[in-house]
Amino acid sequence: MVGGEKRIGILTSGGDCAGLNAAIRAAVHRATLTYGWQVIGLLEGTAGLLTRPVRYEVLNLSMVSGTMLRMGGTILGTTNRGNPFAFPMADGTIKDRTAEIIGGCRELGLDALIGIGGDGSMAILRRIAQQGGLNLVGVPKTIDNDIGMTEVSIGYDTAVAVATEALDRLQPTAASHARVMVLEVMGRDAGHIALAAGIAGGADVVLIPEIPYNIDSVARKIREVRSQGRNFALVVVSEAVRTADGKEIQMVYQGGETRFGGIGHYISQQIAAATGAETRVTVLGHVQRGSMPSPRDRLIASAFGVHAVDLIAEGKFDRMVAWSNREVIDVPIEDAIARYQAVELDGALARTARGLGICLGD
Ligand code: F6P
Repeated sequence: MVGGEKRIGILTSGGDCAGLNAAIRAAVHRATLTYGWQVIGLLEGTAGLLTRPVRYEVLNLSMVSGTMLRMGGTILGTTNRGNPFAFPMADGTIKDRTAEIIGGCRELGLDALIGIGGDGSMAILRRIAQQGGLNLVGVPKTIDNDIGMTEVSIGYDTAVAVATEALDRLQPTAASHARVMVLEVMGRDAGHIALAAGIAGGADVVLIPEIPYNIDSVARKIREVRSQGRNFALVVVSEAVRTADGKEIQMVYQGGETRFGGIGHYISQQIAAATGAETRVTVLGHVQRGSMPSPRDRLIASAFGVHAVDLIAEGKFDRMVAWSNREVIDVPIEDAIARYQAVELDGALARTARGLGICLGD
């Protein structure tokens, strides 16, 4: 055994994505095989630490077989609701419940905690760790790929693959009916999924929140495609793209919670009005998150899980594992959450799209 016996916790927080189970599996393998430590899987993000008794499962090797590599979602469950610093209670009041989370970690006797999350979760976990003196290591995950200081986050590659496949499937039906197909993809405030899938799937137009669009430019592109003798067009729209007058389109869910949704229909109507083309819309939604992880996501997640455990062994905390230049590295969590990663307007993907004649709306 290396480094003495330890008990480490692991949790997934925020929206799920493909590859989370591969990261959990890798951390359990490394911690158990290399260091002889015990791994405690905390259930439903921080929510399991708020209940008494605390909800957790001891994760051993027999529970984390290779089957986990192929499984979407997270075996631990997750939540993207209820910021513990301002937790909405059943009686309508708002309460700071961080002390309960810290108490839960202490009750379990955790020497360190691996938090797999996006930038929001990472910021919350970091504050909790600072407040409670917990040893935190972060692992970046989000289909949106908007976390700073890492080239890629777990889940992004699979989401791009799903969106690309959607374009592959839309293309023949678009051609059969001479239609303009609009595909709305996720991404919250960043257009990474739209841009990557648009390039890989042969889109004619890709609209992302980072680039304000002009519907005349979009219509011009559709007419150009038609004048070249092609009877269909593929348009990808990222969910956070705004209307012509700058409004976000949101759907309202239970309890008044809002999420992006609907811009695809808006753009489709604008295109139909400007070009006379017949349009149809596909909103891809959570299909992008729930799929079997791509090989690359399994690989990145495995590398992240192993490195996260190694950081604990080295006593390096308040750091996030990251992918950079064909390597796994680690960076201060503080820096990662401070540098939101939107699409770079002169980056490789934007340049590639323009080079291919894809209209980015401007
Ligand atoms: O951040 C990941 C993400 O899938 C976004 O792309 C999307 O806007 C949001 O989460 C959807 O959240 P929910 O799962 O709560 O509907």
